[in-house]
Amino acid sequence: MSDRPTPEVTTTAPHADSAFVRTCRGLPTSRTPVWFMRQAGRSLPEYREIRGTGTILRAIADPDLATEITLQPVRRYGVDAAILYSDIMTPVHAIGFGVDIAPGVGPVVEHPFRDRRDLDRLRPLDPEADTPYVVETVRNLVRDLPVPLIAFAGAPFTVASYLLEGRPSRTYVRTKALMHGDEALWHDLVDRLADLAIDSLRSQVANGASAVQLFDSWAGALSPGDYERFVLPASTKVLAAAGELGVPRIHFGVSTGELLGLMAAAGADVVGVDWRTPLDLARTRVPAGTVVQGNLDPALPAAGWAATRPAADDVLRRGGGSAHVFNLGHGVLPETDPEVLERLVEHVHGWRPGGAGPDGAAP
Ligand code: CP3
Repeated sequence: MSDRPTPEVTTTAPHADSAFVRTCRGLPTSRTPVWFMRQAGRSLPEYREIRGTGTILRAIADPDLATEITLQPVRRYGVDAAILYSDIMTPVHAIGFGVDIAPGVGPVVEHPFRDRRDLDRLRPLDPEADTPYVVETVRNLVRDLPVPLIAFAGAPFTVASYLLEGRPSRTYVRTKALMHGDEALWHDLVDRLADLAIDSLRSQVANGASAVQLFDSWAGALSPGDYERFVLPASTKVLAAAGELGVPRIHFGVSTGELLGLMAAAGADVVGVDWRTPLDLARTRVPAGTVVQGNLDPALPAAGWAATRPAADDVLRRGGGSAHVFNLGHGVLPETDPEVLERLVEHVHGWRPGGAGPDGAAP
């Protein structure tokens, strides 16, 4: 972690001097920071032990449990950031849309969004009243954490896709049918979802989170033209509001190689890149000064250390040793041996650009 003075950082947010926050702001650090999407969860035996059998939404609603689950990977891996244990569907669940998360499946919606009347089912979120457990978890965490806490929200498109499809989809037929069939209703829908994301992020940051990540996991299902027309305005609204909170903004999606420029233009300080686009190529698609996050193929840690190490070195080399937050290209797979991720964190922390230690890390 860098101990340099940071007069240029005006925010008073906690951990403004950490390697993670400095890198997100494009400031120099002495090493590449690393964390993993889905670092908390089923790959950890200590998670499986305390998680219980209820749905994940029940675990999220228990602040002591959610706090402990968030802390577990920080303790075990020594990652540079924690991510709140919650879900992108927490706000819509909390306002009573009728969402559950089915184990092994993902979000399922009892009565999917069908027509204009369904907008009434998306009332504004009052985080203190609707999700007091999230507020309490964030406050607990900020008190206990040695590293920054990442707040997050689901981006309007990805959340809309679950509300419309009713369950995970491969084709997004209903979502695209609404976009192209009733553009006014589509924009009203994603505008409401933008407001939910904004209110949720605002509350997480007001209670002490140090950065935000907007998950538009399934945006890669769209062409650049459709992304620009149907998604960019609502995501821009969320990221603009997040920008006023004084913390760095990460914007992530899967299969978004062709969308990276637009995702940066939406107002991101950091663009998340999946493993399909090499980081040096990704940099050519975003404005100079944009930080990149990623992008090791999550299947490689699940395949073992021998597969992971050379691929991690390639990611680090292409990341270039600055303006790069190391991560996987998507979430940790449940079958991953936690020991591989422990070694990976150590390896990333030991790596220096141009360094030529015996194992590829700097001496
Ligand atoms: O460690 C972390 O990353 C923090 C926790 C987190 C969860 N969900 C917990 C969770 C985060 C950041 C999310 C975000 C989320 N939820 C996204 C965006 C990130 C991504 O992976 O693209 C999406 C698309 C969802 C919706 C969702 N929730 C899916 C697709 C699933 C998987 C279903 C399954 O069982 O495989 C969930 C459930 C879920 N959310 C789990 C966890 C740890 C697994 C189920 C469990 O442990 O009970």
